[in-house]
Amino acid sequence: MIKLIKPYISFEEVQDEFKEIFESGWFTKGKFVEEFREEIEVYTGAKHAYLATSATTALTMALKALDIKAGDEVIVSDFSFPATANVVEDLGAIPIFADVSLETFNMLADDLERKITSKTKAVIFVDALGSPIGIHEIKKICEKHHLPLIEDGACALGSSEFGIRCGNIADITCFSFHPRKLLTTGEGGAITFNDAKFVPFFDVKLNHGAVVNEGKFDFVDYGYNYRVPELQCVMGIKQLKKLDDIVKSRNIIRDAYTKALTPLGFTVQKVSDDIVYNVQSLVFKVPDGIDRDELVKFLKENGIETTIGTYCLSGTTYYRNKYNSVQANAYYLEANTITFPCYDGVNVKYITDTISLYS
Ligand SMILES: Cc1ncc(COP(=O)(O)O)c(C=O)c1O
Repeated sequence: MIKLIKPYISFEEVQDEFKEIFESGWFTKGKFVEEFREEIEVYTGAKHAYLATSATTALTMALKALDIKAGDEVIVSDFSFPATANVVEDLGAIPIFADVSLETFNMLADDLERKITSKTKAVIFVDALGSPIGIHEIKKICEKHHLPLIEDGACALGSSEFGIRCGNIADITCFSFHPRKLLTTGEGGAITFNDAKFVPFFDVKLNHGAVVNEGKFDFVDYGYNYRVPELQCVMGIKQLKKLDDIVKSRNIIRDAYTKALTPLGFTVQKVSDDIVYNVQSLVFKVPDGIDRDELVKFLKENGIETTIGTYCLSGTTYYRNKYNSVQANAYYLEANTITFPCYDGVNVKYITDTISLYS
């Protein structure tokens, strides 16, 4: 079976540091956590980075940092993983679904503007499948309306727009290090931002509500433990060093697929020269007349693992039942997109030849 995902990390790369950690017995809040955190700041260009257990916990903390409360409206990109809306819902706030472009799969600026009301308190822009295309345009709209912009960059570490890396564009950015991501720590996430006003919030809230005064904990607030262990940070450090090379090689694979599949009527997710796209997930729209689910089944029978692009959040059972506001483009994309295996050594020729048999 040609797997959809292959992690860019091996045991050999981490074994020395793992041995060191086991020998020292120092499993959390140590030097590797600090190094990984700092390296994320250096890599993204953001002034501040914090680690979290996932993008989901990172997004929740970002909303809390912005004081999003029950009844507030938060506009979210509708083509994403459900966590993007779940974190809003979890706080009792109301996710308002902005439709996405059928070409780039990212939030439509005019739909965002139409949906801003006096109740809107924040916007969550999703880098769909890792692509930040259009985020600066969305940022301008947010600035015009004095709305904070959260970037759900769960998939976007390694991407940039206009030479500015994801993590250094929005007011707050959240990353995921889940195994489906280019950089994985098994589970994990990060929060980045530039404005120092958020520092006390994250310092205290991500430390059980404590400040440390003269070596003693003073619990000045309630807080959380969303820490990432030392072992996982070693994994992160190793992959971050090679991330730019990984991005380059994935773009070469993307080009090979595009060359072979465009004549068959498949349309690759549109990017532009203004962005660096990390190709987190290589997604194509299937040609008219092809049933995506049947194609996925056919490819599986031929030893190739593929999956859908991603989800139309407003069309999931929960959000459809609750808000009845299904967005047309996101709905179309959920049904008509497919993700192909994309990593070094993948047999693009076999995959695209197999697809041509189906087409
Ligand atoms: C766009 C987006 N946001 C949020 C998440 C949630 O990430 P995590 O699994 O790290 O919580 C994902 C996961 O796939 C995602 O793709």
